Parts: sequence; C-alpha cells; structure tokens
Amino acid sequence: MTTFGIHDIELVTTHHALDLAELARARGVDPAKFEIGLGQTRMSVPAPDEDAVTMGATAALRVLERHGSDRLRSLLFATESGVDQSKSGGMFVHGLLGLPPQMRVMEFKQACYAGTAALQAAIAAVARDPGAEVLVVISDVAKYELDSSGEPTQGAAAVAMLVKADPALVEIEPETGMFSAEVDDFWRPNDSTTARVDGALSLKAYLDALIGSWDDYAARGGRAIEEIDRFLYHQPFTKMAVKGHQRLGRHTGADLTAEQLETSRTYNRVLGNSYGASIYAALASLLHHEDGLEGKRIGFYSYGSGSVGEYFTGVVRPGYREHLHPEPIQSDLAARPSISFDEYVALHETVLSSAEDVETPRVTGAPFRFAGIRGGARQYERNA
Ligand code: HMG
Repeated sequence: MTTFGIHDIELVTTHHALDLAELARARGVDPAKFEIGLGQTRMSVPAPDEDAVTMGATAALRVLERHGSDRLRSLLFATESGVDQSKSGGMFVHGLLGLPPQMRVMEFKQACYAGTAALQAAIAAVARDPGAEVLVVISDVAKYELDSSGEPTQGAAAVAMLVKADPALVEIEPETGMFSAEVDDFWRPNDSTTARVDGALSLKAYLDALIGSWDDYAARGGRAIEEIDRFLYHQPFTKMAVKGHQRLGRHTGADLTAEQLETSRTYNRVLGNSYGASIYAALASLLHHEDGLEGKRIGFYSYGSGSVGEYFTGVVRPGYREHLHPEPIQSDLAARPSISFDEYVALHETVLSSAEDVETPRVTGAPFRFAGIRGGARQYERNA
C-alpha cells in the first residue's frame, strides 16, 4: 500500500536570541519561573532584516537544495505572522527560490493550527497525485506586548517539510480527530502587531481541544493510546506539553511518562513559541535526538487558539536517520548571539509603516533578508 507523509524536514530560526534569565532580571521576576515554571531558557528574536518570509525561505531552500523542484506542484505557506493582508507569504518564497510557475501557492491561517491544516492538505494532494510533491512552509514570529504575561513566551522559527508518497521520515496515518470551538483565548486584530491573550482561558481552551480531538480520534478508529510510543504537542512553552501529556494520561487512564516527550522539547526550549512551526520543531527535535525510532508511532496534538485542535499519528520509517540533517539548526543555535534587554526592547518597538520607504540594516547572515519597504511593498533579496 502506498504511504504518504514527511520526506524531509528543516528547522530555521532567527539570527539572535534573548536569554530568559536576562528578561527575568529586567522584569524583577525569579528566573526559575521561566526556566522551570514555563520550561524555557531562551527566545528567538528576529533581526530587523528577518521575518516569517526570510525564515521560511531559508528552510525551504535547504530542503529543495537536496530534492530540486521538478515534481513540486504546491507551496503551502502557513503563518499567524503573515507580512501582507492579501498576498501569500508563499509568493515571496516562490520568487526568492526561483520556483517554476506551474504550481499552486497559497497561505493558511488559523493561529498555531495552520501548519497542520497545510500538512493535511498536502497529504490529500499527493494521495490524489502520487507522483507530485508538496512543500509545506510554516513560519512564525510570536510577539506579545512588552511587559505582558505572554512576553516570556515569545519566539520565532520556521519549518519546511517536503510531503510525498513513500516518504523517508514519517508516514502520516489516515485517522484523525478534530475539535473546533469559537473562543477568545488569543487573537490579533488587523491593526495590531502584537497578539492579545487571556492566559488562563488559553490554557483551558488548549486542554479542552486536546481531549475533544483525542475523543474524536478514538471514536473514528484511531489507535489505542498504548500503541503510541512518542507524543508531540503544540508547545507555546515546553511546560505546556507536560501539562497536555498529564491531562491525556488522566483522561485515558494510561500510564504516560515524561520520557515519551522529553527529546521533543530540546529545540523549543531555546526557540520560544513559534506558533504553527512549534509542533514540527518538536518533531525535528525528536528525530534529531533519538535513535531507534524505526516503526515507532508518534502522536501529534496540534492546537491553534480561537480554537482548533487536531489529533493524528505518524509512523517513523526504516532508515530515517540517513535522511536527517541536524547540522544547520544545531550549529545555528550554538552560534546565535544573545542580545541585551535594551536591544530586545528596541527591536520590539520598531514597527515599520508601509507609508514610508525604508531600508533595513544588514544584520542576518541567512541566505535571504528583508531589505525594506519601497512604494508600500516589502522588498526581499538574496543575502550577499
Ligand atoms: P503567568 O501568570 O505569568 O504565570 O502566566 P503563572 O503564575 O501561571 O506561572 C507559570 C508557571 O510557573 C506555574 O507553573 C507556576 O507555578 C510556575 P504551573 O503551576 O502552571 O505548573 N512558577 C514558578 N516555578 C518555579 N519557580 C518560581 C515560579 N513562579 C511561578 N519562582 C501564561 C503563564 C502561560 C498564562 C502566560 O505566560 C501567557 O499568557 N502566555 C501566552 C499564552 C499561552 O502561551 N497559552 C498557552 C495555551 S494557548 C496556545 O498554546 C496557543 C498559542 O500558541 C497561540 C496560537 O494558537 O497561535 C498561544
């Protein structure tokens, strides 16, 4: 039987980061609250010439350098932090990468859930045309108001995944459970660059959608929980995955353990929230840090505020380790400079208006940069 799923994956983040110990010092908070209470040590902060498009294009480039674009029929870009109200961020990526015109390009939105919507659409597309490949790019910058409860849970990252028949990394299984409920737990008005959140309600909505989507998954012929070996969760902060795992254990009566999700939290701890990319950053973390996963089943809980939850599973393919490329993200994370609290505040407060032409300072060393605004349009370029 033909299988469909993830053939390749790349994770990319920003040029620099803020240490949460530095944020805690500046805000007069015990650093243990962020490190232990939230499970976070650093958060990615974009340079002035980085955004969701530049991170997504870099991740996509690394995947396509290995596979080419001959069989690519769609580029599906998922984001909460899109750069235009009309044009898909995927169009900029398409242009930067010089992709062929004979393909579909579009953007998906539903807070942090959008990446999973794109992945499921990609699987449906390749199931219908098994010779085709689809590039899913999920890229986000999580930004809350300064000195708000959400501030320590900001961050940024992009994941690119090549989806095809007979995948080398993870076969996505067909059973899936869904749960949608209209709720004002987190949103971002059109005239705001920062998200609004009701923290306590967001935790409740996340956990309600976990149980709702799990129950739907189980009712539609999903696997028994004992058949799932590793568990991935949307991770706005890594402690949230622990809370979700404990709740799922109580709900099902299964003896779930912390080890079943430990390796999936390594990257997220230093990226912060990357909204839609976060659960796939967790997948990259799991695959990069564990041997012997061949044939193991992974549970995915994807959540996007507002709210949508989806529960589904995937099975790791034999020989997956030969198709992984952990080096770029691991060396990027190791080399990433820390910025001071004052530099972070200055970056946070810089909001560009489309009414003024501007050139951004050259900071990022990534292959693509956001060069500025000209005539109201965002300009992107290959980094020299
Ligand atoms: P808060 O009020 O700042 O923190 O809000 P808290 O008082 O609830 O403390 C947090 C944890 O730190 C607690 O642990 C404390 O006990 C512990 P818990 O009891 O929950 O296990 N703590 C300490 N631990 C060690 N030493 C100490 C110490 N002090 C306290 N000294 C909140 C926390 C998460 C609400 C806040 O950060 C926030 O509003 N974040 C943004 C919203 C969010 O991330 N929600 C998560 C679910 S919704 C979601 O995931 C969707 C989202 O990604 C958006 C999308 O879909 O696009 C957000």
